[in-house]
Amino acid sequence: MNIGIVGSGYVGLVTGACFAELGHEVLCMDDDPEKIAILKAGKIPIYEPGLEELIRSNVEEGNLNFTSSMKEVVEKSKILFVCVGTPSKPNGEADLSAVETVGKRIGDYLNDSKLIVEKSTVPARTASWLGEIIRTQNKRQIGFDIAVNPEFLSEGTAIHDFMRPDRVVLGVSNQQAASLLVSLYEPLNAPILITDVESAELIKHASNAFLAMKISFINAVSQVCEKTGADILKVAKGIGLDSRIGTAFLNAGVGYGGACFPKDLAAFVHLAEVNGYNFGLLKEVAEVNQNQRQIPVKKLREIYGDLNHKTIGIMGLSFKPNTDDLREAPSLEIISSLIQQQVEIKAYDPAAAENMKKLFPHVYYARDPYDCAADCDAVLLLTEWQIFRHMNLSKIRKSMNRPVFIDGRNLFDPVRMFRLGFQYFGIGRSSRSLAELST
Ligand code: UDX
Repeated sequence: MNIGIVGSGYVGLVTGACFAELGHEVLCMDDDPEKIAILKAGKIPIYEPGLEELIRSNVEEGNLNFTSSMKEVVEKSKILFVCVGTPSKPNGEADLSAVETVGKRIGDYLNDSKLIVEKSTVPARTASWLGEIIRTQNKRQIGFDIAVNPEFLSEGTAIHDFMRPDRVVLGVSNQQAASLLVSLYEPLNAPILITDVESAELIKHASNAFLAMKISFINAVSQVCEKTGADILKVAKGIGLDSRIGTAFLNAGVGYGGACFPKDLAAFVHLAEVNGYNFGLLKEVAEVNQNQRQIPVKKLREIYGDLNHKTIGIMGLSFKPNTDDLREAPSLEIISSLIQQQVEIKAYDPAAAENMKKLFPHVYYARDPYDCAADCDAVLLLTEWQIFRHMNLSKIRKSMNRPVFIDGRNLFDPVRMFRLGFQYFGIGRSSRSLAELST
């Protein structure tokens, strides 16, 4: 099948490369000529484990190509996946301007019947709006179908998530579109849910909102743990063993970031509100998340009072491990807040440091965790990269001015840290169990 991808970002590139791997002829388009040049040179403009090799092998096979021409991708494809970004407007509404532009351009170049598939995360009823744009723009009145196929890719595991999905959701308005899309996804041997277009759009928003809610729930419980002497890891395990709850996404910490949860939650709240429903539950999810990322600085203020001229080591900058993505990462707000309090910052991240330098050029970027921790008055761990799990903690402690360790992702065992001589603070970890165990 000739497949076109419009928008070669995280979603577009992974989708295109995986469809090529499944044997389709794929043309990935982007209107950023620099991005296309990088791709044509055999490199990728994003950090996604396995993607560079997958793209390279399929380019060599001749299954995968890149273009900056919208005309070419529309004319050559039988199925067009729209994978452009839908960032948040200041009021939380999804900015659909890129989708609108793509719709008009598809209308301009539509040369025969196509299936246009909306993969970008958009509010319900966007697909019908997109169809109207294409119909209005297409002077030759050529017939086409619109479908919705939301992505459920997580950064760092995106290829796995595409090739082994929990489910494929297809929002269609006729059997022909359903059959065409089922033929694409059948080889994945995953449950395929066929719905109407609006339900498919809402499934995406509701899915991300629920996951964000689960994280904020356990984060809120972590704060109750701190006040009652309970331990959040034990509480999370205890509730997660209930098969109706499940253990995933119950890791308390400094909160969620990324390009999706914050944006999709805001868009869902806005969609509800413009349709007459006040989604207070999701507003509280966002509020809890915002409070979580304030915790490390609050703990530092409790310990030191004035932070003026203190040196703080930040371990982990990206919003999650195995990505260089800083979008909505807790580290951004935390570093901003510390800089405003005249704190000297040393930062280390295995992948995201280069991106952070563009935002905070005056921060010292360490070559490794030990260089980061040396001479610090405290260490804040904000991303649970594997490299931190295995670092020599005794060496870290001995190199610090004062052994204060604020573990924003509960990576370490409090008792072990206590015995190593750290003044350790987790998120929702019980200090009482520490005292008992330290006797
Ligand atoms: C998410 C959804 O998982 C994915 O299905 C959707 O398609 C896009 O958005 P992503 O944002 O890439 O994927 O990362 P994810 O692994 O979901 O983590 C999002 C944030 O939640 C990260 O900042 C992570 O640190 C945080 N998180 C995750 C927690 O704080 N606790 C958890 O238990 C899990």
